[in-house]
Amino acid sequence: MSTEETPTRSWLFLFRNWLSLSGLTVAVSGLFSFLLLSVIDSLAPFANPYMGLLTYMVAPGIFIAGLLLAVVGAWLEHRRIFKGKASGLPATALVIDLTRPHDRRLLGYFLAGSAVFLLVTAIGSYHSYHYTESVQFCGQACHVVMGPELVTYQNSPHARVACTACHIGPGATWFVKAKISGLYQVYATAFNKYPRPIPTPIKALRPAQETCEQCHWPKKFIGSLERTYQRFMSDEKNTPFSVRLLLKVGGGDATHGPVGGIHWHMNVGNRIEYVFTDKMRQVIPWVRMIDSQGVITEFRTPEFKDTPEKVGIRVMDCMDCHNRPAHNFSAPDVAVDLAMALGKIDRNLPFIKKNAVAILTKPYDNERDAMQKIATTLAQKYPDNPLVRPAIDEVQRIYRQNFFPEMKANWKIYPDNIGHRNWAGCFRCHDGQHKTADGKKTIKANDCNACHTLLAQGSGAQLEQLNPRGQTFQHPGGDYGDLKCNDCHTGGSQ
Ligand code: HEC
Ligand code: HEC
Ligand code: HEC
Ligand code: HEC
Ligand code: HEC
Ligand code: HEC
Repeated sequence: MSTEETPTRSWLFLFRNWLSLSGLTVAVSGLFSFLLLSVIDSLAPFANPYMGLLTYMVAPGIFIAGLLLAVVGAWLEHRRIFKGKASGLPATALVIDLTRPHDRRLLGYFLAGSAVFLLVTAIGSYHSYHYTESVQFCGQACHVVMGPELVTYQNSPHARVACTACHIGPGATWFVKAKISGLYQVYATAFNKYPRPIPTPIKALRPAQETCEQCHWPKKFIGSLERTYQRFMSDEKNTPFSVRLLLKVGGGDATHGPVGGIHWHMNVGNRIEYVFTDKMRQVIPWVRMIDSQGVITEFRTPEFKDTPEKVGIRVMDCMDCHNRPAHNFSAPDVAVDLAMALGKIDRNLPFIKKNAVAILTKPYDNERDAMQKIATTLAQKYPDNPLVRPAIDEVQRIYRQNFFPEMKANWKIYPDNIGHRNWAGCFRCHDGQHKTADGKKTIKANDCNACHTLLAQGSGAQLEQLNPRGQTFQHPGGDYGDLKCNDCHTGGSQ
């Protein structure tokens, strides 16, 4: 029998050596783990970018390495046969003869080895999948980079929701997008190329319909929520001043309650579109409303002369108000007020509100620097006062949970759009400047009881005098004229 007769067979013959066979086993297991990972991934409710590394790089990498090994084996075999021919010896490819005990043993080892290898690959793939899926991986694998988002997330109402549930969501398209950006993120972290702070808003964040609304049903009627905002003034006595509001959250779907209130904006019956002209979506000069009957109303501020389509139109969704559902960087005044209301910072320390806010507003090199300076400054301000010790601990805790000097992340960088005190928030549109072309209609603005009913305000007995129709706000800071709240209230020292 001459090998030249059947070229295909002779070519395949070359792979009949142990090296090539091992290579092929490796290749098969690479392919196998690729398929397995893809299946697990497509079945999982929420995907994860780092899985891309495993599924699309590591597994195919193993597959290709295996193939290369097989080819190298074949090439060596080819050389051996060629040499064999040249020296006149018979060129024999690998022959496995099961009647030979040696061959049987060798084949047994080979098959057992391959089986173990495949099993380990399967278990390994499955475990790596779970690991990359975990919050621990998302937040801690890139400890410094994701630190601010992880810490704030752990203190948020969504601390039990996986990062991927909001950042990727279900389905294939976003999954692949996330893979690609995930690879870039791994590269950026490894080579220290990531921006500090991580910019907000996320440009390509998936629309809320496909993330938030997988858990929160947009048709739900919420009705009114009662909230008390306990505040303290910056005077010597740290005079308390609270506001009790009934927030008219309402709902947006007529089958489950009256349509109206704050959640009227939700895209159930209405669609609201807008244009923003700054990076952080804080300046909104143009708004278009399309109601359930299809009636279109356009509002714009007098300064805005551009064509909205050219600037880029965004459809309003949950995240335009709830942009900090998981990463709320508390402003110093908000955090100190809460700590004082809870008694963690004692109100009997004169000027403590003012001092604590001032110290949190200062810039620091790193967390250690901040901890030291907070302790020494406060200790100096209140010498021999035993109340200062717990106050220092609390101010340090506030700092650690809301300030991240290594990433330059804090409340100033990350606006919170839900209200209108420290950020323009609702007043980005509800500021009295947004009018229709005929000037007849303005987006509701000056009516302080449009979005909430001010039930009570002040402190002590005053706070018990409820008025269900709503009181007029008695601003402790005096008359504020036409200014927006956030022109003066910045969250830090004023
Ligand atoms: C409840 C949903 C939700 C969860 C859970 C969540 N995020 Fe976010 N994340 C958001 C939203 C909303 C934004 C802000 C988007 C915007 O304004 O464009 C954001 C922003 C970010 C940003 C950009 C910087 C910033 O603060 O705006 C990073 C980084 C981030 N998240 C990482 C994470 C990590 C890591 C986890 C898990 C530890 C996580 N997120 C969990 C909803 C979520
Ligand atoms: C995987 C499910 C899930 C996803 C996705 C999700 N949430 Fe939630 N959300 C929850 C749960 C559960 C709670 C209730 C937490 C509690 O009360 O213990 C909650 C609470 C809330 C609250 C009330 C917070 C408070 O202060 O009590 C808001 C607002 C909210 N989510 C908005 C959002 C927004 C906006 C998104 C999208 C960026 C989102 N959620 C995505 C599960 C989810
Ligand atoms: C126009 C701004 C706006 C939009 C858009 C919006 N919300 Fe809200 N939502 C609010 C305000 C204001 C509250 C009152 C509570 C607060 O201040 O946190 C609230 C409250 C909530 C609550 C808390 C209810 C509770 O019982 O504590 C949930 C959950 C919620 N919203 C989910 C959503 C979801 C999901 C979407 C998108 C489908 C959405 N919201 C869109 C402004 C908005
Ligand atoms: C992108 C612009 C925009 C933002 C931001 C915005 N709104 Fe609106 N809002 C509108 C428009 C447009 C209307 C409809 C015109 C009107 O009724 O004045 C409206 C109407 C309302 C209404 C009246 C609904 C009804 O019953 O007719 C309430 C209440 C309201 N908004 C609350 C809020 C709150 C609270 C926030 C902040 C958390 C907010 N809005 C943020 C554009 C906006
Ligand atoms: C477009 C809707 C809207 C209008 C109009 C509005 N508010 Fe508010 N206001 C809100 C929302 C939403 C919150 C709750 C923010 C939060 O949950 O943190 C709030 C919170 C407040 C608070 C508590 C602030 C704090 O954190 O200490 C005060 C005080 C207040 N509003 C006063 C006013 C006054 C005075 C006016 C009239 C000039 C007014 N509001 C008009 C939506 C509105
Ligand atoms: C002209 C600047 C200015 C404007 C505009 C302004 N404030 Fe104030 N506000 C002050 C000053 C000053 C104080 C007193 C500060 C202190 O003693 O801590 C104050 C105090 C307050 C307090 C009492 C608790 C605290 O934090 O000191 C609340 C609540 C408050 N303002 C809410 C608002 C709201 C809501 C708006 C918008 C409707 C607003 N302010 C607009 C300057 C302003």
